[in-house]
Amino acid sequence: MNNVEKISELIAGIKSELGKASDIAGIEALRVSYLGKKGSITELLKCLKDLSEDERKTFGQKVNAAKEEAAALIEEAKKQLQENEVKKELESMPEFDMSMPPRIRRGSYHPITLVQRECEEIFKSMGFTVEDYSEIVSEYECFESLNIPKDHPARDMQDTYYLENGQLLKTQTSAAQNAIYRKYRDQLINDGKPIKAIFPGRCFRNESTDACHENTFFQMEGVYVGKDINISNLIFFMKTMLSEVFKKDIKVRLRPGFFPFVEPGFELDISCLICGGVGCPSCKHSGWLELCPCGMIHPEVLKAGGIDPEVYTGFAFGLGLTRLAMMKYGIKDIRDLNGGSLKSMEQFTE
Ligand code: FA5
Repeated sequence: MNNVEKISELIAGIKSELGKASDIAGIEALRVSYLGKKGSITELLKCLKDLSEDERKTFGQKVNAAKEEAAALIEEAKKQLQENEVKKELESMPEFDMSMPPRIRRGSYHPITLVQRECEEIFKSMGFTVEDYSEIVSEYECFESLNIPKDHPARDMQDTYYLENGQLLKTQTSAAQNAIYRKYRDQLINDGKPIKAIFPGRCFRNESTDACHENTFFQMEGVYVGKDINISNLIFFMKTMLSEVFKKDIKVRLRPGFFPFVEPGFELDISCLICGGVGCPSCKHSGWLELCPCGMIHPEVLKAGGIDPEVYTGFAFGLGLTRLAMMKYGIKDIRDLNGGSLKSMEQFTE
């Protein structure tokens, strides 16, 4: 058999073997055996050295053409096999029924977002503005402006994550108070328009977690500053907000509480709705849940915000939004709210 005949035979051989290959791996093995470094077509080039110059040229061209033809045959066989596989898979699928309703997985709002929006609507209807504020704040915003100087023991209860530049992740939404006073004080002083603002936000604390404590949780701060604002105003707004949120009578208690930025200060607790006030892990077995500390804004805090405490007074509160969501939706463990389980959270879709 001369060399040209050998080429024809190899091409015929590859065609026949490709016809039998049943998977991509088989085709790849064929490619190596014909076109690889030691493949049969490549091997033909070894005869070149025994040929005259003219013969070498023609034979070389023929071998190269054979290589191209073999490569094309292999590519075509691969394509064919892939198409057949897709066809087979499509045929094995159940018929597509255009009239079936689509199976859409709807997104849902997180329970905290739901209560936050509800509270926002309630306070907006009472003339409050809703403010957004950064999660990263300075020590001044989070502490000094709130009458908590460096080394004040109140800082121990609010350890947090400090950044290299000295800023920190805010431990309380109160950190926005100073900026809010500065934003609206001109309207207060020049136009007599009271400052009525709420500012919901995420807070961070170095906290041992349990059923009612998380290291990342939400609060909603509120301030009302004007002339002759007093404790009765504070109690009225707190009661209205709670009755609107729960849409039923809730047992509430107000007791003295210490916060350096209010004087007097109160703790507003609600009777635990998980256990009906009997005591459970969600309320640390006390029957009551600390929900919304509040008080009359300390004169030093107003001063730091550029407001004269001799002329203006105000109240502030720091509602625990995460705990409110727990009570409203009967969530026993606060950690479930950060757990990221869609199954749990989807129950609250509205
Ligand atoms: C404060 O953060 C004050 N800034 C609140 C305040 C504002 C007082 C304005 C007076 C005037 P406290 O640390 O108690 O206070 O937190 C307020 C509320 O946030 C708590 O009642 C609770 O509902 C919620 N809270 C606090 N720590 C956590 C926590 N680790 N996990 C979940 N909720 C928390």
